[in-house]
Amino acid sequence: MWMVTCTAPVNIAVIKYWGKRDEELILPINSSLSVTLHQDQLKSTTTVAASQDFKDDRIWLNGKEENINHPRLQTCLREIRRLARKRRTSGDGNSNTLSLHHKVHICSVNNFPTAAGLASSAAGYACLVYALAKLHGLEGELSEIARQGSGSACRSMYGGFVQWMMGTKEDGSDSIAQQIEPETHWPELRVLILVVSAEQKPIGSTAGMQTSVKTSPLLKYRTEIVPKRMKEMIDAITRQDFETFGQLTMKDSNQFHATCLDTFPPIIYLNDISKHIINLVHRYNSHFGETRVVYTFDAGPNAVIYIREQHVDQFVEVVKHYFPPEENGEQ
Ligand code: DP6
Repeated sequence: MWMVTCTAPVNIAVIKYWGKRDEELILPINSSLSVTLHQDQLKSTTTVAASQDFKDDRIWLNGKEENINHPRLQTCLREIRRLARKRRTSGDGNSNTLSLHHKVHICSVNNFPTAAGLASSAAGYACLVYALAKLHGLEGELSEIARQGSGSACRSMYGGFVQWMMGTKEDGSDSIAQQIEPETHWPELRVLILVVSAEQKPIGSTAGMQTSVKTSPLLKYRTEIVPKRMKEMIDAITRQDFETFGQLTMKDSNQFHATCLDTFPPIIYLNDISKHIINLVHRYNSHFGETRVVYTFDAGPNAVIYIREQHVDQFVEVVKHYFPPEENGEQ
C-alpha cells in the first residue's frame, strides 16, 4: 500500500476569474490574480492511498463517499496518470514504482464550510492533484492539471501572490499559474473573513459564469480592461502599495458582482449584510482619508477583508460595534 497526505491552502482573488472560453479544458476569458492564505486556519487535507487490493478508484469528501465518476475528478486522475506514464517512459524525474494500474482511494476534508463561497473547490482540487502527484513521485508544474479540476485551483498550487495567466494556446498548455511574489514579500498583510452566511450558495460558480458568458455584455467589456488591471495590480503588489492594491481589489470585486447582476437572469451573491460591510469599509477609509481596509467578495455573501496588521484590532472593534456578537448568535 502506498499512501500520501497533503494539505493545500485557500486563495482569494483580487482580480477575479469569471467566464471560460473552453468549458472542457477550463480555459478562462481573462487572467486573474489572487493571494494565497496561510494554512493555519483554512485548508484542505487529502490522503490518497493506492493498493493492488483496491478494486475501484473511490473518493470520500468530508467523510461521505462521493461519485468518483465526476468528469473533473476523472480528468485529474487521468492527467496525473498520463504524466506519470510519460515521465516513466522518458526516464525523467524520480517517479516511483507504484503501478499505474493500481486503483486509488482518496479521502479529503475541509476545515471550513464547503461551497459557501470560500474557495473550497480551489483548495480541494489543488490538494488532490498535489497528493496524487506525490503518490506517483511527480514534481514540477502541476497547475495545468489542477486548473482542469477547478479553474481557481491552479492558483492554490503556489503560496504568496499568484497570477493565473489565461494563455492563448488551444490545448491550454500555457494557461498556468505563476507566483509573482512569495508569502514573505508583504509580511504585515492580513486577511479577515467576515462570515455572513455559511449556507451553500444558490448558484455555483461553474453554472453562474456559463450564463454570464452567454448573456452579459459587461463581461465582454471586462476582457478588454482586465489586462491593464493585471499589470497595475502586479506593480502595486511589487511596490507594496496598499492604496492602489486596495482600490483595484474593491473595484474588481464590484465589477464582478455588477457582471453577475448584468447576467440574465441575474445572479445575486451579495446580501444586505454584505452591502452594509461595503458601506462600512468606505466610511472607515474616508474617515482616515486613506485606504486602510479592503473588501472582496467571491460567489457568495461572505466578505474577505485585506488589511495591514497595525489596523486589525481597531477595525475588528468597529465591526463588532456595527454587528454586535450577541445579536449574531454568539455570546
Ligand atoms: C468568483 O474556480 O470555482 O471565486 O473553474 O468552474 O470550477 P470553475 O470555477 P471556480 O470559480 C471561481 C470564481 C471566483 C473568482 C476567482 O476565484 O477568481
